[in-house]
Amino acid sequence: MEVIEAIRTRRSVREFTDEPVLDEQLDILIDAGRWAPSGLNNQPWRFMKITKPELIEKVSEYTKYRGVVAGAKALIAVFLDGQSIYDRTKDVQSAGAAIQNILLAAHELGLGAVWLGEILNRRNEVESILKVPAEFELMALVALGHPRSRERSGVRHQLESFIIPPPD
Ligand SMILES: Cc1cc2nc3c(=O)[nH]c(=O)nc-3n(C[C@H](O)[C@H](O)[C@H](O)COP(=O)(O)O)c2cc1C
Repeated sequence: MEVIEAIRTRRSVREFTDEPVLDEQLDILIDAGRWAPSGLNNQPWRFMKITKPELIEKVSEYTKYRGVVAGAKALIAVFLDGQSIYDRTKDVQSAGAAIQNILLAAHELGLGAVWLGEILNRRNEVESILKVPAEFELMALVALGHPRSRERSGVRHQLESFIIPPPD
């Protein structure tokens, strides 16, 4: 798949079939994540693969998108490692780049995925359930599975509306 086509056709997928996501597929996604750019190439991200149904179910209790999480066949939790960070803005941006890489790689593999941020409202509780070291900060969950087939149309404002004129 061409990159621009992948960017244009990727959609958030929130409904999944019962087909499992393989560990090798998760590794491909995390590999795509780690090849994201980062400031000073500090690679501040850390990833957790979550596939045990009981743990997925437990995590789902901490977001209003409970149904999306509970229906996922796998989650990738993306963290910033406090020991690797150097500039908060840039480190968070780097994590976002890694997450986008994961979404695009999932799209190429034919998997469905959605970036979940609302769960950060209960970040501390989720970090505690996932038993990560205190210096790890949850950035997002990516919920994954094989997409239930249905039309998913993307919506964006007109290109021109995002472009601001440079000064004379
Ligand atoms: C930072 C961020 C947080 C998001 N959080 C959630 C979320 O908590 N729940 C959800 O269903 N979708 C979430 N999304 C997905 C967006 O709703 C989705 O990307 C947007 O509606 C555009 O749709 P598309 O991805 O299909 O193009 C999030 C996306 C981003 C980038």
